[in-house]
Amino acid sequence: MNFKHDLVECLYPALNGQLERKQIVKMIEKPKFEQQGDMAFPCFELAKIYRKSPNDIALAIVEKINSPIFEKVEAVGGYVNVFLNRKDVSSKVVKEVLLQKEQYGNLNLGKNEVITIDFSSPNIAKPFSMGHLRSTVIGHSLALIAEKYGYSPIRINHLGDWGTQFGKLIVAYKMWGDEKKVKEAPIKELLTLYVKFHEEAEKTPELNDEGRAWFKRLENGDEEARHLWEWFRDESLKEFTKIYDLLGIHFDSYHGEAFYNDKMERVVQMIEDRGLLEESQGAMVVQLSAEELPPCLITKKDGTTLYATRDLAAALYRKENYHFTESLYVVGHEQSLHFKQLFAVLKKMGFPWHEGMAHVPFGMILKDGKKMSTRKGKVVLLEEVLEEAIQLAREDILKKNPNLVAKEEVAHQVGVGAIIFHDLKNFRLNDIEFSLEDMLRFEGETGPYVQYTHARAASLLRKGNYQEDKERMIGDKEAWPIITALMSFPDVIKRSYEQYDPSQIAKFLLDLSKAFNKYYASVRILDDSEQKQARLSLVYSVKIVLKEGLRLLGMAAPEKM
Ligand code: ARG
Repeated sequence: MNFKHDLVECLYPALNGQLERKQIVKMIEKPKFEQQGDMAFPCFELAKIYRKSPNDIALAIVEKINSPIFEKVEAVGGYVNVFLNRKDVSSKVVKEVLLQKEQYGNLNLGKNEVITIDFSSPNIAKPFSMGHLRSTVIGHSLALIAEKYGYSPIRINHLGDWGTQFGKLIVAYKMWGDEKKVKEAPIKELLTLYVKFHEEAEKTPELNDEGRAWFKRLENGDEEARHLWEWFRDESLKEFTKIYDLLGIHFDSYHGEAFYNDKMERVVQMIEDRGLLEESQGAMVVQLSAEELPPCLITKKDGTTLYATRDLAAALYRKENYHFTESLYVVGHEQSLHFKQLFAVLKKMGFPWHEGMAHVPFGMILKDGKKMSTRKGKVVLLEEVLEEAIQLAREDILKKNPNLVAKEEVAHQVGVGAIIFHDLKNFRLNDIEFSLEDMLRFEGETGPYVQYTHARAASLLRKGNYQEDKERMIGDKEAWPIITALMSFPDVIKRSYEQYDPSQIAKFLLDLSKAFNKYYASVRILDDSEQKQARLSLVYSVKIVLKEGLRLLGMAAPEKM
């Protein structure tokens, strides 16, 4: 719902075709102050064309505008200020939401084209860190927003299940490992081995060579290496799946780095065929000096491949199998250089589709201002954080609503929701200081606050015995901030997809919740029998949009809390 369109249709003829509709759309502003109306059209640019003062032009335009949807149109200081007919607009907006329900805000802009989203992508045999949580929740939300935008997203978990570190892990396991311990607590034990390897390798650097040798054996299909690797991978996946289940996330593909092992020869060949492969200190690289980037390493001295080689093979595979229009990588900003190189190599290889690829970077989660590192064993385990959040939600329910029937389910939805929202309400490029206390705060600008507002709306509908009614419409002037929020929802979705930025939806939900709670505090919704049903229609439309917005962030909206 957007009344800009109505204004454009009035301005276009009023300007006798001096400006294109597109230009007019861009010029329309939202005034800073309420007394300046709901929309404003500046006439300063036109002053040059018409050789008249901006305000004279504004006055002339005002004469020509005539639409029932505008209550008042006035010329002030070179602007045409437009006031919407709030009663009409309110009815239209509420009616529209009730008609479309959760479809409200669906955009057909993606035309069902495929986009691939590479997200989460944790590393096998390492704990699922708070850092991977960011990729997971941002990527998951982007996939949902993309769908709402009209795209068909493919969710890909590009597992970090290949590389020298697996050679190192095999060495560590063979030297100090204990099968029973690994079976009991795989991730914890494998991490211990990994940390020990790095400590020992400081003293005995030859261990690194051994690790490399074992990785080469793995790449060549050595049975012992392969067997251990598969075991580590299976155990890790089991642990990761627990977290995805807790978060309610699924993937269309778990093809990780290892999947491309037999697909890299072809890519290396393709690079060579195009005359792009060069030797440099024994390794093979693609020079990117014209792009002002360091060379991209394709194979190492010993012939083994790298992260970048596997990503090249993966990009090709995705294009050939999914025929994507856009291909996104939700990965921390510390990998920006890697993705610049990746896209540059694809461009040099002559693939025009490199233009549809984008790295969607995000900031780090810091602990006491510093990056958390797996090598030194300094990690916070996500599963523990999630469990703790659910426990706190449980306690909160017992305090506030001990008779709630679906306690466990709601505790889960609120606990997990708190963690997701805490992440998504921040603009993704900002670093976030890790604070369990902040994540689990249920008051203020939090996920539980939005969920609670939704449950309050649901409770009002139950208490008021609401019968869906699309005719009796709201007349309260106090409802206006809610109406403008509801009206902006489709635009918010459009922007949050185009800027790959779920935080705009999180902020929208906070604004809508605040507007609704203010209304709730100032209007006695259930008292006035004459207005009750009309007011409940407004409540219902708020409930629908809150629930849909929460869904787009990957959160549930409990009916009762
Ligand atoms: N496994 C990598 C990491 O944890 C992220 C992989 C991202 N995806 C990709 N196609 N490179 O750092």
